[in-house]
Amino acid sequence: MKMMFAAGTALALTLMPVALQAQDTTVSIQADKPGATINRQIFGQFAEHLGTGIYGGVWVGKDSPIPNVRGIRSDVVAALKAIKVPNIRWPGGCFADEYHWKNGIGANRRATVNANWGGAIEPNTFGTDEFMDFVGQVGTEAFVSVNVGSGTFEEASEWMAYMTADQRSAAGAERAANGRAEPWKIKFLGIGNETWGCGGNMRPEHYADLLKRFARFTRNYNPAQQTGDGVMQRIAVGPTDDDTAYTEGVMKAWAGRDWSWSMEGLSLHSYTVPQWPPSLPSTEFGEGDYALILKTTLKMEGRIAAHSAIMDRYDPKKEVALVVDEWGVWLRETPGTPSGFLQQQNSMRDAILAALNFNIFARHADRVRGANIAQMVNVLQALILTDGPKMVLTPTYHVHKMYLPMQDATLIPVRFDPGTYHHGDLTLPAIDAVAMRDTGGRLWLSLVNLDPHKAKEVAVDVSGLNVKRAAGEVLTAPNVNSINTFDVPNAVVPKPITGTVRGGTVTVALPAKSVAVIALDP
Ligand code: AHR
Repeated sequence: MKMMFAAGTALALTLMPVALQAQDTTVSIQADKPGATINRQIFGQFAEHLGTGIYGGVWVGKDSPIPNVRGIRSDVVAALKAIKVPNIRWPGGCFADEYHWKNGIGANRRATVNANWGGAIEPNTFGTDEFMDFVGQVGTEAFVSVNVGSGTFEEASEWMAYMTADQRSAAGAERAANGRAEPWKIKFLGIGNETWGCGGNMRPEHYADLLKRFARFTRNYNPAQQTGDGVMQRIAVGPTDDDTAYTEGVMKAWAGRDWSWSMEGLSLHSYTVPQWPPSLPSTEFGEGDYALILKTTLKMEGRIAAHSAIMDRYDPKKEVALVVDEWGVWLRETPGTPSGFLQQQNSMRDAILAALNFNIFARHADRVRGANIAQMVNVLQALILTDGPKMVLTPTYHVHKMYLPMQDATLIPVRFDPGTYHHGDLTLPAIDAVAMRDTGGRLWLSLVNLDPHKAKEVAVDVSGLNVKRAAGEVLTAPNVNSINTFDVPNAVVPKPITGTVRGGTVTVALPAKSVAVIALDP
């Protein structure tokens, strides 16, 4: 008897017989028991007014020599289009609860101080219309967070009217005068941010009372968003890490709601940060940091399970999504960069971390229907780094691209023995695996090898599935701390990988410290 890891519903450990041959593990695919749809919104992005996340990273201005369309840099837009970003969360973060949108529209922008992030001067050059232009250029959806901490219901509802009302209304006319006659589409509305912390340090009950009023009065007037799939999703502030107070408080309020308000999502913020303040380096780290960070990130599985169990009590039909709208590794700021700008490098280790989190979100697809990595450009676990005209794609970006088949795929349960990888006192699973059928019906397998030393031979039992070809991409690197730089941008990039198909088994030689996404084709 071997310990098996069953992935398909939530994380579950069951004792099942397994035939291990020379392979390190056997993955059996239960294609006849399809699971939930893996919502493409788990690949959402987060762009806060923080450091060079917006200014420099997205916005360079119309007169910049850096190629741009209406001030928005074209290289970044092209990179984001290539990974089919489903939504971008903006303007924060802690910034959102001190953001006053009227400073960022029209001809006369008012500069303010970004008190949360290094006291930088916020020119408000990039405001609502520039953000919505950016959303349109990327071809994504807007996730706008309104100011609950230091703003008013009136301010938030006027903002919604500015963005979505008919141009015959005063708010719509102002938008039209600023260049946009048609209402904008706002797919997601964040009602506050971390109101248990930087967003006002409120008790859950106090926040729940505010939530009811914001949820009612921040109306979306866009005629195309009144019914069906287009209806705006309201995301309430929820828990952080293992703290369940907001999960209980906000879900209890939702369960007792009447006709006058509701919400469609509950946020979870959960960073991978083994020690606070974040002090582990993003480059030149050793295996100790590698194992500790991955061990820490795997807590996401238990956190989601715990918050989901509470949500199930109040919402057994799973009407409210759990939206992990801030996640990722938070490391020491790169030496020499401005304090408070949260700039860090991004390594092969961080790509593995991203893949593990996507696999966890997929296993909880019935409840986790959105997530936003923190953050998109130049901040924390960035997908893209820029420096003036230069741009580099990080290993985390490449994982997003490799995982494109997961967008709106159907989860297919798998069973396997993950084995173990040890370092010092730490024990981690060696292998992780998720299977899915993409929207075109193609079967895919995502495999992660956490072991930094040993390649693994993975046997995939595909008997009865008529698989004749197994091919995809693998991301690995010489070292777990390998990075892409402006000078050497392709040190960590995906390469082709094939599996050997014999009878009803596909055998994959999975390199040490790697992520692979493989199509299993007839
Ligand atoms: O992503 C950086 C910060 O982390 C966000 O502004 C805040 O919401 C969280 O604490």
